[in-house]
Amino acid sequence: MDTVSTIKVTKTETSRLSQVKLENLSFGKVFTDHMLVADYADGAWQSVEIIPYQKLSFEPSLAAIHYGQSIFEGIKAYLNVRGEAVIFRPYENFARFNESALRMQMPEVPEEIFIDGMKELINLDKEWIPTMENHSLYIRPFMFATDTFIGVRPSATYKFIILLSPTGPYYAKPSRIAVEEKYTRAAPGGVGRAKNAGNYAASLKPAEDARLRGYDQVLWTDAFEHKWLQEVGTMNVFFVLKDAVVTPSLEEGTILDGVTRRSAVTVLKEMGLNVEERRINIDELVDAYKKGDLIEAFGTGTAATIAPIKELAYKDEHLEFDLAKNQVSSELGKRLSDIRSGVAEDTHGWIVKI
Ligand code: COI
Repeated sequence: MDTVSTIKVTKTETSRLSQVKLENLSFGKVFTDHMLVADYADGAWQSVEIIPYQKLSFEPSLAAIHYGQSIFEGIKAYLNVRGEAVIFRPYENFARFNESALRMQMPEVPEEIFIDGMKELINLDKEWIPTMENHSLYIRPFMFATDTFIGVRPSATYKFIILLSPTGPYYAKPSRIAVEEKYTRAAPGGVGRAKNAGNYAASLKPAEDARLRGYDQVLWTDAFEHKWLQEVGTMNVFFVLKDAVVTPSLEEGTILDGVTRRSAVTVLKEMGLNVEERRINIDELVDAYKKGDLIEAFGTGTAATIAPIKELAYKDEHLEFDLAKNQVSSELGKRLSDIRSGVAEDTHGWIVKI
């Protein structure tokens, strides 16, 4: 395998940066000047290149399109208060990416490509990192099957790509969420824990149905009773009760082991709160809400960051939250943001400098 020292870099002749305003950006629309591309064939990673962002061309028989061997990650880079480019916990995403690869019968990507290649790419496009509040450089590593064959079998060839996208917040405003009672995101033994493209495709119809009813997203429930909470479309979920902060546990293997979720659990404990990762039944939340014991609800995700929830709807119940009382999520958001920006000390070794 080629190592990072042999990454071939072809720089763009004309940067697009001067045409882009790195302010008030929405999520996922703008891409930087360069991208990293690596190809897998004959049982090994063959080449790694950084090239100008460009179109790719494929035959219509491309395996990924037909059977969905396609996985991705989401990571963020920031400019800290000292003007240094830093990445938040990329090794966690690297490990999760390779777990997803194993579940989808795809090859693992080595650290020299995933981490070292990402650093080199960001270094090249460092000028694209936005500095406006709630903005960052979103990093999208992904891999897909490239055999040109329409029989069902694992592809023998793959492409791994990293894109960089300067971005603002994913959710511009607090969300209204409907508890899903009909469709299922994941069941034990399925692929719910993997970050594969198909999980998101499967969420689109339920999310659209929810949108038609006036909600922004769905909160997934278990496949059997539609009672046990899993995660929201693009984020993990937390509830602040009177005596504990609770979040669905990872045990069933049906939800994503979110890096922001993990960071939130650590920081909430540091805030002196009692955090429980456990099974959560929607009836328990409705009861707690009626007693005045359910105070806040929020989502966590790389793209979503810490996203306040303003309403949770379940059957005829509408759990509405007073956002002015969102003390836990706003303190959590501030602490995470201080770690990323270098205002607070990085006591956990979460920050990786480029
Ligand atoms: C992320 O938070 O990075 C995600 O991957 C969610 C994405 C589907 C927007």
